[in-house]
Amino acid sequence: MPGAFVRSTIEREGERGAAWLAGLPELVAELMNGWGCRTDGEVMHGGVGIIVPVQRSTGGPAVLKVSFPHPGNVHEPDAFAAWDGRGAVRLFERDDDRFAMLLERARASTLAEVEDGDEVVAVAGRINRRLAIPAPPGLPRLRDQAGVWKEQLRKDAVELPHTMPPRAVDAAVMTVDELGRTQPDILVHGDLHARNILRADREAWLAVDPKGCVGDPAYDGGTLLKSRALALLEAGDLRKSVHRALDVFAEAAELDRERVRRWAQFHAVQAAFWGRRHGFRVARSGPWLDRINEFADHLAELLIGPARP
Ligand SMILES: Nc1ncnc2c1ncn2[C@@H]1O[C@H](COP(=O)(O)OP(=O)(O)O)[C@@H](O)[C@H]1O
Ligand SMILES: [Mg+2]
Repeated sequence: MPGAFVRSTIEREGERGAAWLAGLPELVAELMNGWGCRTDGEVMHGGVGIIVPVQRSTGGPAVLKVSFPHPGNVHEPDAFAAWDGRGAVRLFERDDDRFAMLLERARASTLAEVEDGDEVVAVAGRINRRLAIPAPPGLPRLRDQAGVWKEQLRKDAVELPHTMPPRAVDAAVMTVDELGRTQPDILVHGDLHARNILRADREAWLAVDPKGCVGDPAYDGGTLLKSRALALLEAGDLRKSVHRALDVFAEAAELDRERVRRWAQFHAVQAAFWGRRHGFRVARSGPWLDRINEFADHLAELLIGPARP
């Protein structure tokens, strides 16, 4: 088991994490046996799951993904099943009780390795469009979170120190009210970022690691833009690069640019507060976190409409 994965799981989940890790080698062996697979490479991991490259006895490479049993990981196989390989890796087998899936194997490199920022955003936009299909029944609806989002925004605005003007928080609340409460029945990836888009052969790029929710496909434009924050931070003219990213994403995703901007603004405000409460994976505390938080404030303000610079 990768050491970093063991440490982060125990840090996050405590005793339950340790117990799950202890049983994981046996669990993996059982699943491999049941699905007729043998290992074929080094074990990889993400934030919450391990990925074992395997060969199937029926022929062909695949990966076994086993996630920590967490409510956030329940609907991943439903999303893969609905896409049936269009824009995302194929689902070969699932064992929902054990949070396990056998998936089509993509290549080892991710979209995060691509240097050209326009290319990253355009690829993500095209994937977003491809994944926007009618949602299967039973998945959580983003619109059901609107009330909680709004309440949390209001609470955070008074409880947490930040440098956003009040109209930045107001704009996010308005987005929740105007876009959040009625959303279409479209399948949304829910965690669209460059490390969750892998190079492949069947299609040039394939998505992995969906949360699988239902709502406005423009929502994930905000997810993507938020994940580009550090790249944007390094860009010279922030306003220009942010608006450029919106242009490129909206065009590639065939979405209304204004909707993408509004969701991105909402995500930026949420991130500004999240950073103050919890920190980020790249910085839990200290001056680097302060800088990211201030940047999120800035982004939240900059993304307030009207859109054009
Ligand atoms: N189908 C796949 N083919 C090849 N590599 C994969 C596949 N799925 C995941 N990976 C690799 O494992 C990493 C973590 O997988 P991911 O599903 O994103 O896990 P997590 O939910 O823990 O973030 C990915 O970034 C990728 O490098
Ligand atoms: Mg991931």
